[in-house]
Amino acid sequence: MTYYEENRDRFLEGLKTFLRIPSISTDPERKDDIRRAAEFVAGELREAGLDHAGLIEGQGHPLVYGDWLGAPGKPTILFYGHYDVQPPDPLEEWKSPPFEPTIRDNNLYARGASDDKGQTYILIKAVEGLLKTRGRLPVNVRFLIEGEEEVGGEHVEAYVASKPANLKADAAVVCDTEMFAPDLPTLCVGLRGIVYGELRVEGADHDLHSGVYGGVAPNPIQAIAEILCALKDRDGRIQIPGFTDRVIPPSEKESAAWARLPFDEREYREKEIGASDLVGDPSHTLFERVWARPTLEVHGIRGGFVGEGAKTVIPARALAKLSMRLVADQRPEEAIEQLKAAVARVCPRGVKAEFKSIHGAAPSLVDPENPFIRAAAAALAKVFGRETVYIRSGGSIPIVGSFDRHLGIPSVLMGFGLPDDNLHAPNEKFHLPTFFRGIEAVARYLDVLGG
Ligand code: BES
Ligand code: ZN
Repeated sequence: MTYYEENRDRFLEGLKTFLRIPSISTDPERKDDIRRAAEFVAGELREAGLDHAGLIEGQGHPLVYGDWLGAPGKPTILFYGHYDVQPPDPLEEWKSPPFEPTIRDNNLYARGASDDKGQTYILIKAVEGLLKTRGRLPVNVRFLIEGEEEVGGEHVEAYVASKPANLKADAAVVCDTEMFAPDLPTLCVGLRGIVYGELRVEGADHDLHSGVYGGVAPNPIQAIAEILCALKDRDGRIQIPGFTDRVIPPSEKESAAWARLPFDEREYREKEIGASDLVGDPSHTLFERVWARPTLEVHGIRGGFVGEGAKTVIPARALAKLSMRLVADQRPEEAIEQLKAAVARVCPRGVKAEFKSIHGAAPSLVDPENPFIRAAAAALAKVFGRETVYIRSGGSIPIVGSFDRHLGIPSVLMGFGLPDDNLHAPNEKFHLPTFFRGIEAVARYLDVLGG
């Protein structure tokens, strides 16, 4: 039995302990839990045998660092993951509580199981196994684990930008993406960027009786609806002037590879999405729409009366949470300006509408011909016994762009989530056989890189 096989139960218990910490980065009440999660990760790095394991303090949630640099002449890998998680609501839809990890059918259910505590743990355990069995690693490694990924990753961005020498590496390995299908080794070579913010709309200077004033008073919630419908038409085409000018379409080669992916659209719609129809601009294929086209989505609308029963009011103000996903070569700053201009143009009479950005990240593309990517494809193919596929993902991992810009290194997006992992949703889970395989795959990758 290998070290990895012998220690499966211990790995699982460790991951459960990690998952019990409700490290919700967006919730100011969870500051202590965020710190506990960071300290847990630092402790794991130390026990795995890494040097300099500890927290890096700064503005916002702590970063966790550790390294092992005992392989002179060999490449240095910068491992990245995040210990923060999304809020668990709506709580009543969880079959077992989000912070009480529970196994059902080979899956471990908990908030963060797949995104990204389970995947971060894969990286730590892969390195632990090599260090405990051989006393050394085939390459040099640094770990940089952050606690703000789900809220835009400002601290890590500032650190990477200001201290590039502390993170000197030849490539980053990011374990925070999904495989295209179970048992299908996958590398992600493109991520969307994002602009997230609030559309704040103000009408009258106080709430009004909807009978007495309805018919003349402006309604901010109605205004939000009108603005949203003007910004994206019924076919899902975004109507923001200039917005798509910089979009680079996928190459013929990439499109052809996507067309060969094993995919059943009906099953995707019924099982993975659970809706009666798919939407979006019909002039683009499904994979283009989720991987290579920008989006505009509304996440929530606040305003007026939403309690039990009825209240006849025209609210004075309302707010919508919005985001735009961006693809190469769109730029967050430019997209914000374009959105603001479009909002001003379509804003109805009688209300003031203002977009306030909360966070942003650039899109990223990785060259699949890069030697670090090729070595990853080979290692994954060995461990999974199948050819590795290259996909993109519609999600965002802000730091990937910063690794490229500030450290000049490519990111190998080697993730082990599955399409039905319910990221950001109730009943998030991690497929345990894939978790264990992921650990071995990362270890194998380091061996391939070490030569
Ligand atoms: N791990 C996800 C991103 C992801 C999901 C990549 C699935 C590939 C496949 C990440 O933790 C995430 O959700 N990021 C946020 C970032 C944002 C809030 C800046 C996202 O994409 O919404
Ligand atoms: Zn994540």
